[in-house]
Amino acid sequence: MPKDTLTITDNRTGKSYEIPIQNGTIRALDLRQIKMSQEDFGLMTYDPAFTNTAACKSAITYIDGDKGILNYRGYPIEQLAEKSNYLEVAYLILNGELPTRSQHEDWVHQITTHTLLHENIKKFMEGFWHDAHPMGMLVSTVGALSTFYPDAKEITNPESRRWQSVRLIAKMPTLAAFAYRYSIGRPYAYPDNELSYTGNFLNMMFKLTELKYRPTPVLERALDVLFILHADHEQNCSTSAMRGVGSSQVDPYSAVAAATAALYGPLHGGANEMVIRMLREIGSLARVPEFIKRVKAGERRLMGFGHRVYKNYDPRARIIKEMADQVFVEMGKNSLLEIALELEKIALEDEYFVSRKLYPNVDFYSGLIYQSMGFPLDLFPSLFAIPRTAGWMAQWEEMLRDPETKIARPRQIYLGSPPRNYVPIAERETPGRKAAGI
Ligand code: CMC
Repeated sequence: MPKDTLTITDNRTGKSYEIPIQNGTIRALDLRQIKMSQEDFGLMTYDPAFTNTAACKSAITYIDGDKGILNYRGYPIEQLAEKSNYLEVAYLILNGELPTRSQHEDWVHQITTHTLLHENIKKFMEGFWHDAHPMGMLVSTVGALSTFYPDAKEITNPESRRWQSVRLIAKMPTLAAFAYRYSIGRPYAYPDNELSYTGNFLNMMFKLTELKYRPTPVLERALDVLFILHADHEQNCSTSAMRGVGSSQVDPYSAVAAATAALYGPLHGGANEMVIRMLREIGSLARVPEFIKRVKAGERRLMGFGHRVYKNYDPRARIIKEMADQVFVEMGKNSLLEIALELEKIALEDEYFVSRKLYPNVDFYSGLIYQSMGFPLDLFPSLFAIPRTAGWMAQWEEMLRDPETKIARPRQIYLGSPPRNYVPIAERETPGRKAAGI
């Protein structure tokens, strides 16, 4: 039987090395034995942005980017979106198995009864400027929760970790909704325990003076499906932030604040907001070709297109596109839809996009649905952060249980100055420095 090894010959020394291959990978540390001399540090790998480096082993989410497959704990996303609900999926992601009926009831009860925030959180929300971006407020307020739950520091205690997951999943919608209500000067709407997870979120967002808010079933279900689609996505930027920051053994609220900050960026969870801003800027069908020209010239990015892992249609985008029709029947067609469809049509036929395998991603159509549902534009990234909290917490739990976990600490290639002596300030104004503009 041939052994699963990689033979590397170092042409500098003529030596050969057998490196074991396991799970389609070699261990970067195995390369360290490849040295020029005993004093040599040994060979490292260089992989900016981790495009070809597995940083962990995981049993949570599987993606086949070429085939457009996404599974949570083995279950295809299409089946979960059709048959499950967000809280059940959150349980699955966190615990590895779908809940039994009684486990489901307990889980829903625990989440539903932990949605309230400490009243002091309202006070520091009021410190924000009136038009503060809700995602900026969410980053700060979720981080601040760590000061209200000092027991969250007990990260080696499984029961404490479980409670922090419950609290975070329960309170993220309340934080996001309160940030929105504050930004438009409306009184906060408190959670309603008789409503579903998404029904209650709609209540906290949109309740006015009515005694009981009743969510529109189509919108409640559409939001639930959107939350399922956003629940986890393996080692993306924000999840890597969660794992990296969490590896310092900080409490999970602080790590979720870091993950939320990573998600805020326009190349990640902020893309849904940017798609709508882009569609508004294009403004009409007639201006689509001109915009595509600017994208191809490298002047602009087509927001909501492209993905590090998917080199095929993002399966989440396909489900969202189908669901959009139901929302549009209820709420009326989004006036930007035509432009989005035209952009997609041109991009899917154009050599620039085809050769780079750029397809619509989850954010291309989600923004249109959120907008039709009445969500304000700058709340869109928070609508990504709320459901992703389950994924972050599951990845954090997995990271802490992994015996191979160490504090995240990448290496670098130092290309700076060799050692040199300090120069007193009076001797620094040499003609050479002046000429170089230093
Ligand atoms: N518009 C135009 N060109 C693009 C785009 C785009 N949206 N995305 C990638 N390219 C080009 C890029 O210029 C490069 O071309 P070249 O080879 O000529 O230099 C090539 O395609 C490869 O791109 P890349 O930047 O190396 O790809 P990446 O894997 O580093 O980036 C991405 C992935 C998602 C950051 C990128 O596709 C992008 O910026 N998309 C727009 C923002 C967006 O929609 N983000 C949401 C991602 S899905 C939700 C989530 O998980 O966050």
